[in-house]
Amino acid sequence: MANDLSSMVNDNRDMVYDVERIRKDFPILSREVNGHPLVYLDTGASAQKPQVVIDAVSRAYSEEYANVHRGLHFLSNLATDKYENVRGIIRDFLGAPNDHEILFTTGTTEAINLVSYAWAARVMSAGDEILLSVLEHHANIVPWNFLRERLGVTLKWIEPDSCGELRPQRVLDAVGPRTRLIAVTHMSNVLGTQVDVGAICTGAAGLGIPVLVDGSQAAVHMPVNVREIGCDFYAVTGHKLYGPSASGALYVREERLDEMWPFKGGGDMIREVRRDGITYNVPPHKFEAGTPGIVQMIGLGAALEYLQSLGMETIARHEADIRDYALERLAELAWLKLQGNAPDRGAIFSFTIDGAGHPHDISTVVDQKGIAVRAGHHCAQPLMEHLGVTATCRASCGLYTTRDDIDRLIEALELCHELLAA
Ligand code: ALA
Repeated sequence: MANDLSSMVNDNRDMVYDVERIRKDFPILSREVNGHPLVYLDTGASAQKPQVVIDAVSRAYSEEYANVHRGLHFLSNLATDKYENVRGIIRDFLGAPNDHEILFTTGTTEAINLVSYAWAARVMSAGDEILLSVLEHHANIVPWNFLRERLGVTLKWIEPDSCGELRPQRVLDAVGPRTRLIAVTHMSNVLGTQVDVGAICTGAAGLGIPVLVDGSQAAVHMPVNVREIGCDFYAVTGHKLYGPSASGALYVREERLDEMWPFKGGGDMIREVRRDGITYNVPPHKFEAGTPGIVQMIGLGAALEYLQSLGMETIARHEADIRDYALERLAELAWLKLQGNAPDRGAIFSFTIDGAGHPHDISTVVDQKGIAVRAGHHCAQPLMEHLGVTATCRASCGLYTTRDDIDRLIEALELCHELLAA
């Protein structure tokens, strides 16, 4: 199947995006919730899985399973080939130059912790500065806060403007003599704001400052090319990319790899272990200790091939249509406050309803109509504080979202307004 999908990659530009046909690839989308057909608007939290991913996972366990990198027997070699083949798939998906610049992780959270422990803790010292935007997810905040607590580095925060846009020049203007890293999201998981990370990287390169990009949301919705962006680190999350949970990857530019300590210690990441000395394996294995998520990564490979078969440009065009339609429909609801209105944004909408109480109540009411949205602080408390709220309700779309899903959301929100704010 993987090969069939790969052969379609170059042919997808002229394909009509038949969302109803594509939805049939996702078995869960045909189920009912609370007596209504499911409307899944929580893709920002985790995406649903196409049958090709479910089949790849099932096949890996039922026909091709053994530990990787360790055995000489048939199944171990087969599993190792399948697993390592995913590195090339991710390299191509991210436009990275080399396989060894792709580190397998359990997701963006682990990826950013890896950069913090293995690179930043090695190259930074007390008084050095990390620039962060207020748009960041906790995964791109807490690991840096560890360095603040343990090493004495300073975190410097860049505010978005009033519509939730993060202007590259504002980031670059904040660079000072002790700045050692800019860590920034490519797309806000709360506001959908797309950040021009390419402009940030171009400016930062001129100043000699490395840039880490949290691509956990963006890579799901648009083509990404780390060479064109020019970043040093780019993290993606498998379960948001329609793959299994606990899978993911980190692109690390070659020259940064040379500066990095190992991350976790254990099997596979060593060349030789003696009582009084250890030598380490070469990248990427130096950063991948222990038995990894073998099947999870094989499933992620299938997910990325599926996305490539549809075409990321094509997916982005479909989601832009859904975004524009949703913005138009949400604007009809005078009592709904939509957070953020950046000119470049994805199909992620955070809102509150005047007088309707806590966003959890909104989420509970729409759930009764079979509609899944997330409510809470979305692991972005500094952004909540900036917006002057403690929580929002969030509808986040994916490649399978339809205009009908948006209409169903609007109807359910009208009901919420009637029930909760009357
Ligand atoms: N980071 C995920 C979200 O935004 C969990 O919902």
